[in-house]
Amino acid sequence: MSVRPIVLAAGKGTRMRSLLPKVLHRLAGRPLLVHVLDTVAGLDPVGITVVVGHGSEAVKATVSAETEHEVDWAEQTEQLGTGHAVRMGLNTLADDDIALITYGDVPLTSLATYRALVDTADDTTLGLLTLETKDPTGYGRILRSAGAIVGIVEQKDATPDQLTIHEINAGVIAVKGAHLKSLLTRINNDNAQSEYYLTDIIALAVRDGIRVQAVNPGTAHEVDGVNSRIQLATLERLHQRDIAEELMANGATLADPARIDVRGSLTTGQDVLIDVNVVFEGECVLGSGVSIGPNCVLRNARIGDDTVVKSHTSIEDSAIADNASVGPYARLRPGTELDSGTHIGNFVETKNTRLGPGSKVNHLSYVGDSTVGSKVNIGAGTIFCNYDGANKHHTTIEDGVFVGSNSALVAPLTVGAGATIGAGSTVSQDAPSGKLTVARARQKSLDWIRPVKSGKRQD
Ligand code: UD1
Ligand code: CA
Repeated sequence: MSVRPIVLAAGKGTRMRSLLPKVLHRLAGRPLLVHVLDTVAGLDPVGITVVVGHGSEAVKATVSAETEHEVDWAEQTEQLGTGHAVRMGLNTLADDDIALITYGDVPLTSLATYRALVDTADDTTLGLLTLETKDPTGYGRILRSAGAIVGIVEQKDATPDQLTIHEINAGVIAVKGAHLKSLLTRINNDNAQSEYYLTDIIALAVRDGIRVQAVNPGTAHEVDGVNSRIQLATLERLHQRDIAEELMANGATLADPARIDVRGSLTTGQDVLIDVNVVFEGECVLGSGVSIGPNCVLRNARIGDDTVVKSHTSIEDSAIADNASVGPYARLRPGTELDSGTHIGNFVETKNTRLGPGSKVNHLSYVGDSTVGSKVNIGAGTIFCNYDGANKHHTTIEDGVFVGSNSALVAPLTVGAGATIGAGSTVSQDAPSGKLTVARARQKSLDWIRPVKSGKRQD
């Protein structure tokens, strides 16, 4: 069976009070609409139609920049209601397709729920996502007669009696293409909001002899829509709580499941410890026994078994092997690769650098564009001068080198195996293997009378 999602994303989102179209506001780092696209893509659809209107250029640009989804865009220039919006998306829908209508501002509906809806829809049945909820305010109410669904009434059109109904319309519908096309020709805007309501197709379907089958979501927040920044923040925490619980179920200890943010994917081995206020972005992988201190930010980081990342450390596009120690207050920039047993200490910045097994950079250094061998010790305050103002150059430090504190290594440069660099050196030529290279003024002591302030009487 062929499925075609039709995602409605033309609305302005007035209550967001934003220049950004509502569906581009982010939940867990991804635009709301992208959540929906990523999920419906799991249905292996024949195509995905997205109806855009407000901010359509920005919406299209973001989807093409941040995702691989091929979208059939449909334009709704005037927002005349959800029914009108779906009509704008019909030209890509085949009669035999099952249309899955979803909203771009309802980001967390699960693939399983979409599947259940799609599996429900056929020649004789329409699938409708509904939920029994304590507070139905704002939602369309499900009307039933003798147990069967016979229609939906919007909050603004409901009688006081209908307002007491607690079964709500989540907004997601699965229906055969031919049925949808026929039903939509018959809706009108004769209602409280003068809009073409998609929800009116339910009563029309029942009149056509199509059965309306309710499907319920796995969790309540699968149907939560985002209309304001307050709702967005609430949904973010609910979503982060789900992620936190999954991490804990997989064997990670979280110091506080309310104080972690995963904006992408995080895979953890066994007995991982994550302290408070850690942000994970992109794709992060933590091996078994890894410990992440408080207030760290990791983006596209791969970390090997038993490595410790101490507080206030930032890691981006980097890989760390096992048994390493990083931080506190370290900054690993893109292209950093730390081998097993390495140490990066406080106020150390690395970039595009490979550090061999057991090597250490413990304090206050910049190590960029370099290859560092094994068992190298780089002293406090060492700077790799990789930039001459126009181009970047490479530094190679061979195995067993000892670089004294406060040295400037001017690239391009090679320091041979076992070499020692005297503290305070500015090294601009290759330093030979096994020798002590010192490049600083020789120390001397002179006889010297300290000057005194003029005018002051000298006894
Ligand atoms: C809609 C349903 C309501 C349901 C609720 C669930 C209708 C008439 N009502 O109400 O029964 O309980 O969703 O969240 O369908 N949109 C367009 N073009 C338009 C109008 C809307 O693309 O002309 C899009 C919006 O961008 C949004 C979605 O459709 O993504 C829903 O529209 P919204 O105005 O938020 O509908 P609700 O009043 O919430
Ligand atoms: Ca809404």
